[in-house]
Amino acid sequence: MIKYFKPSIFILSTIPFLFITYKIFFNKLGPEPVKEITHFTGEWTLIFICLTLSMSPLQKFTNLNNWIKIRRMLGLFVFFYASLHLLTYVGIDYRFSWQPILDDVVKKKYIFVGFAAWILLIPLTITSSQKMMLLLKQNWKKLHRLIYVIAILGSLHFIWLSKTIYFKPLFYFVLITVLLSLRINFKRIFEK
Ligand code: HEM
Repeated sequence: MIKYFKPSIFILSTIPFLFITYKIFFNKLGPEPVKEITHFTGEWTLIFICLTLSMSPLQKFTNLNNWIKIRRMLGLFVFFYASLHLLTYVGIDYRFSWQPILDDVVKKKYIFVGFAAWILLIPLTITSSQKMMLLLKQNWKKLHRLIYVIAILGSLHFIWLSKTIYFKPLFYFVLITVLLSLRINFKRIFEK
């Protein structure tokens, strides 16, 4: 079963990329094509963050290990979509003019947190392999807890860039809060 499960999830995860590529090549992006690509890739980054965070609660509730087996792949898709998102902004929107990009990072808090989230994804991507897991031992788990910080920064980024918190930014904020709170060991806290 897992033989087909993993490749199926991989194929499903590439669909948003294929969809936006199709829209680019067939001129179906509407009146603001750059905005459309930025929004699309940004939202899919957030969706993949939520999917990655859902895997361990799903494993706990269903007692199935398959969820953990696809977590690493979903995490790599977070980096993939976040990099496409960043590349749209840096390459298409600003045509690699570094000074205005730097000004944006310093002056706009939503760009600052988005950028910080992308930077934090780099060590997670580099150390995602089984080999790195064995090499880093307990530190691997500690390092990969950065995904929680990334999720919070991603959610803040969405709230701060939107004119209003309703509806999508609030939806992702609540979803991420729930997914993170599922990790809190209340038993341990109350037993202390
Ligand atoms: C983990 C990292 C990131 C996540 C989760 C993320 C998520 C998002 C989301 C959800 C949106 C709005 C989508 C919508 O309106 O439907 C968005 C928009 C945007 N993001 Fe990000 N983002 C990330 C990193 C970045 C980075 C690194 C940059 C640039 C340095 C960036 C720049 C932007 C810009 C310019 C917009 C559009 C703002 C506008 O509407 O004018 N993001 N992002």
